[in-house]
Amino acid sequence: MSAVLRLPDGAAAPALAGRAAALLAAGRGRRVLVGVVGAPGAGKSTLASAVADELVEGAPARPARRAVVVPMDGFHLADAELVRLGRRDRKGAPDTFDAEGFVALLRRLREDAPGPVYAPEFRREVEDPVAGAVRVDREVRVVVVEGNYLLLGERWAPVRDLLDETWFVDLPDDVRRARLVARHTAHGKAPGDAKAWVLGPDETNARLVAATRERADVVVRLGAAGAAPAAQAPPVR
Ligand SMILES: Nc1ncnc2c1ncn2[C@@H]1O[C@H](COP(=O)(O)OP(=O)(O)OP(=O)(O)O)[C@@H](O)[C@H]1O
Ligand SMILES: [Mg+2]
Repeated sequence: MSAVLRLPDGAAAPALAGRAAALLAAGRGRRVLVGVVGAPGAGKSTLASAVADELVEGAPARPARRAVVVPMDGFHLADAELVRLGRRDRKGAPDTFDAEGFVALLRRLREDAPGPVYAPEFRREVEDPVAGAVRVDREVRVVVVEGNYLLLGERWAPVRDLLDETWFVDLPDDVRRARLVARHTAHGKAPGDAKAWVLGPDETNARLVAATRERADVVVRLGAAGAAPAAQAPPVR
């Protein structure tokens, strides 16, 4: 059963960065991997990068990046491979990712071997992943892993135990879908096609992800009125 944390938009990143810092202190400096999970368009990438930004240390002139975002999206199979497999029309579904490659990368990050460890990143401009786009140096103590299927099970089952905590970003479906349509059109889809994709493949994936909500350690309700202070969040394990 997950704990629910209601937070106004601006308060979420500082509160979650605080949880990551507490996990780091509890582990006496052992590298921390936290997961940001949620349906398509819930705001995972935006929130994960805001959390990482909160964890920058040092003087403003010489900031030291102690946290890096590693996106599950980087493990999208290439478009050419999806065409070959006949899965291009449902890009984004669980079987259109290299789940085993993602798990192997998380194991390397967990091992804390001398770096750097490189992770791939999905580029919306080209609709394909790019290898070696994210560099995780040994000094990086917090890795913010973000993506849809962190709690899905089957091929993804090892992911949960490789993460210290998972945070499920929960947003009302109407807001989430509207943001997703806007993002698809901003990246060149015609409005009708954007809506059809959001109500079609994206919605199928959203339902799969929603069914994993209870496996998260914390459910983060964004933009909610009457927000509970971060202190009411459950203690970090
Ligand atoms: N707090 C917010 N307020 C307003 N818009 C937001 C907020 N957070 C994210 N967005 C916008 O909503 C859209 C979806 O956000 P984002 O890309 O972070 O979601 P995501 O969960 O990573 O989606 P996906 O699963 O498709 O990768 C983006 O266009 C983003 O700019
Ligand atoms: Mg994203």
